[in-house]
Amino acid sequence: QTVVAVVPAAGVGSRMQADRPKQYLLLNGKTILEHTLNALISHPAVSRVVVAISADDPYFFSLPVANAPWLTVVTGGSERADSVHAAVITLCEHEWALVHDAARPCLDHHDIDNLLMVIEDSKVAGGILATPVRDTMKRAQVSGGDPVVRHTESRENLWHALTPQLFRAGELRQALAEGFSQDLAITDEASAMEAAGYRVALIDANPANIKITRPADMPLAAFYLQQISL
Ligand code: C5P
Repeated sequence: QTVVAVVPAAGVGSRMQADRPKQYLLLNGKTILEHTLNALISHPAVSRVVVAISADDPYFFSLPVANAPWLTVVTGGSERADSVHAAVITLCEHEWALVHDAARPCLDHHDIDNLLMVIEDSKVAGGILATPVRDTMKRAQVSGGDPVVRHTESRENLWHALTPQLFRAGELRQALAEGFSQDLAITDEASAMEAAGYRVALIDANPANIKITRPADMPLAAFYLQQISL
């Protein structure tokens, strides 16, 4: 089974309020994107990586990793799902696409191992890393001013979807294309696969695999990076 990592890295990351897209910020001496690519390609099951970058990205080709033989670069799109689609169409139908956010550098190999087990599970089309929701969840009412609580959602059986997310490239490509044509809000690969009727396994993951989103996430990620083993 060939597993190809797909890394959407074409976002701007405006919530970081930085001078460059967050995947190019330095963490423990290397860019976030380099940590992410390294966590993937150093796993023995991952044969190559396809990264989607924005058309006018001035940073990527200065990275030492840019010319690595295992790396393919494609141009991303205006939404994350467009960037993933641009990468997935370069894969063969039967290859497994291990889609992972550039902004999640704290990925450990143990979680990849757990996710890869879905390949042997004939009851599901693929799977995603996820963590059970711990906090009480509120649905807000936002009309007219500051948000107020409308009601409390049950947190029973509620999970946070992380990445990587693992699906057959052919099935994922088709599910994304169907999602686009139906104007679905596709915020992760699983949402397109679910809409196409596939069963998706939830794999309980290490919560250290955070998506760097706000400035306060940087010191946290630096700490987690030192803890994880590759
Ligand atoms: O902005 P957010 O953190 O949700 O983005 C998740 C991942 O998707 C990031 O790695 C980002 O670079 C990527 N992305 C992309 N193309 C876009 C928007 C986001 O590849 N148009």
